[in-house]
Amino acid sequence: MNPAIRVGALISGGGTNLQAIIDACESGVIDGRMVFVGSDNPSAGGLDRARNHGIPDFVVDYGAIIRKFRCDTGKSLLPNDFNLLECEGKQHIFPKDAPVHRITDFLKSRAIAESELLMQMARYEFDLLVLAGFMRNLTPYFIDRVNVPPERLRIMNIHPAILPAFPGTDGYGDTFRYGCKVGGCTVHFVDYGEDSGPIIGQRTFSILPGDTLDGIKKKGLEQEWILYPECVQLFAKKKLHLVRKDFPLPDGGIVCRTIVEIDP
Ligand code: GAR
Repeated sequence: MNPAIRVGALISGGGTNLQAIIDACESGVIDGRMVFVGSDNPSAGGLDRARNHGIPDFVVDYGAIIRKFRCDTGKSLLPNDFNLLECEGKQHIFPKDAPVHRITDFLKSRAIAESELLMQMARYEFDLLVLAGFMRNLTPYFIDRVNVPPERLRIMNIHPAILPAFPGTDGYGDTFRYGCKVGGCTVHFVDYGEDSGPIIGQRTFSILPGDTLDGIKKKGLEQEWILYPECVQLFAKKKLHLVRKDFPLPDGGIVCRTIVEIDP
């Protein structure tokens, strides 16, 4: 039997996925325990869920940090180990033709917030970091300091759409407004892009005539609460393997991707 894994979580909101993972740890469905819960939002409802279970929590107020950065760009203190060129080169959250100042302001302000996150997280040993409704893109600055060595991907995210369709902040809304007949959710490892990392698991639901956006969100969340604990348990059981694979393209070319293979 593998030893129980230590799971840290980052949240921004109500934390129903966090609750599903905590419950699965407590009932033994996941061989693991939650060791901290962090939030970018001081009023995230999920913080109370952590406290109700005696799990240590902390807040790094991204909103305040970003406001301060915008008023005072020159004076905001960047972390000593932040390398702008390196982060610019690695990130693929922004398209290459995005205005440079947008990219640099984003990377700098987030690195300030992320260095605080890392400082808070350094108090706890953890094997896996789950993003459970964490509504902030993480930059290479943060990712490279969690995934050590780099091939040890250990940040998971849940996204409310069947990726790679509808990345971004409103997966169920985008699915609904497109007139999709099927919706779903995806758990994936986090890479340097937005919702673009290797896919671990997906669940779907039907969208019926007359369904409302609220109804779709409800159906989707019910699937998320099943999917996320399942994927965390696969990680705990060491059943997830990252494989670099070449795929032939119709034009004769080849695309090389890192995908997740799952032991039966
Ligand atoms: C969930 O639907 C999750 O998929 C989504 O936020 C919601 C959080 O709900 N995450 C994202 O959109 C990430 N880009 P919860 O706080 O009740 O778990």
